[in-house]
Amino acid sequence: MKKIGIIGTGYVGLVSGAGISDFGHKVICADIDKEKIKEIKKGNILIFEPGLKEIIDRNVKSQRLSFSSNIENTIKESDILFIAVGTPESASGKADLTYVENAALKIAQNLNSYKIICTKSTVPVGTGKKIKEIINKNKPSAVLFDYVSNPEFLREGSAVKDFLWPDRVLIGCENNKTYESMLDVYRPLFRNKKPIIKTDIATAEMVKYASNAFLALKISYINEIANLSEALGCDIKKVADLMGQDGRISPKFLHPGPGYGGSCFPKDTKALSNLAKQENIPLETVNAAIKANIYQKKRMFSKLKALLKNRVKGKTIAILGLSFKPNTSDIRESSAIEIIKSILKDGGIVKAFDPISNNGMKLIFPDIKYFSDWEKTVDNADCMVIMTEWNEFRSLDLKELKKRLKKPIIFDTRNIFDQNKLLELGFSFDTVGRKKIINY
Ligand code: UGA
Repeated sequence: MKKIGIIGTGYVGLVSGAGISDFGHKVICADIDKEKIKEIKKGNILIFEPGLKEIIDRNVKSQRLSFSSNIENTIKESDILFIAVGTPESASGKADLTYVENAALKIAQNLNSYKIICTKSTVPVGTGKKIKEIINKNKPSAVLFDYVSNPEFLREGSAVKDFLWPDRVLIGCENNKTYESMLDVYRPLFRNKKPIIKTDIATAEMVKYASNAFLALKISYINEIANLSEALGCDIKKVADLMGQDGRISPKFLHPGPGYGGSCFPKDTKALSNLAKQENIPLETVNAAIKANIYQKKRMFSKLKALLKNRVKGKTIAILGLSFKPNTSDIRESSAIEIIKSILKDGGIVKAFDPISNNGMKLIFPDIKYFSDWEKTVDNADCMVIMTEWNEFRSLDLKELKKRLKKPIIFDTRNIFDQNKLLELGFSFDTVGRKKIINY
């Protein structure tokens, strides 16, 4: 059993802390935000993540997991420290490393014995070197440490599952002793036969950025092929399915939609692009993915406008789904924000519903009307738009929907509805990369 301290209780910190305590280690999750820690201690984890509350409760009960706002003590009491603080986008598009550097300084100032310092936050290649410099400059000279880059690949909405069943675990470090200690942390994963791979520090840092940028690129690619399919009369669902059957391509992350959002892809692609610029290395593919995503988000409003025959002013539009993807309350960089802004700017009226993100969106759009079910949201609206593919929307009763809407008009940006049924029921509709029917 290792004594582990996690600095930062966002998605990555909280899920990693809960997961590592579930592996049998003693974990303290620490955060400088006293209010947040107070709430977590009361059992309010503040983020919606399937299975997270259960795994936290279980490990708190067995006294393997605790929470603290005392960073100094957490550092002193731990053998291994994970830095899991945010790396937001700065005004220039670079990753803002202030929180990471502050955490490194705090660790140095409280380094009372040999420890492993491990970064889980997504950081640009070269950050490990910087962190080591900060610690070396500020620690007591007699105390030693080793550094590890251990990037996290979990997705919001399936974070607990992704942590406990990862495709791989990367340990970027400089010697075997450190690697062996990290193997001890992740030992239960051996049972699941998951590869735990040793690399150098910079390689581990690069794999994280390169993976996120590649996935973003894949989405932008299929979005552009979807747009072209619309123009040429092909069905992107079939195109993507058949492309995905090629093992080299795989069907994953090949779903076209209203543009990728969330706290990772938009910021990490920009940060990688900045890193390349700094090194004077062209990174045109990633730059194109970023540009295509901005266009895709804008394109959604143009398509809606066309579906409404260019008359948005005074029209009531029901938006179903506000989060950047299903199973999360996170609305950061959600495509719903862009379309709502444009509708309001053109004089349209928005009614909105998300199973869990209404409150988050109220902070951005306090003046639109929010509802607690799809039925009331679509009542008497001129058009319904699906922005997030929550399961409960996939199975909504289309006959009932038709009855409630003023006119049977749908914009399905996630391609969740059966087009034959929509045709049968006499809907006018648009999609992303599939058929468009306007018959009113
Ligand atoms: C992403 C990565 O998938 C994780 O591996 C990574 O650890 C994480 O970022 C991170 O860096 O922390 P996440 O942002 O939670 O995870 O969500 P994704 O499931 O990747 O979805 C991102 C966006 O892409 C969403 O807006 C989603 O709707 C969109 N998307 C995804 C598509 O439009 N099409 C797809 O086929 C897949």
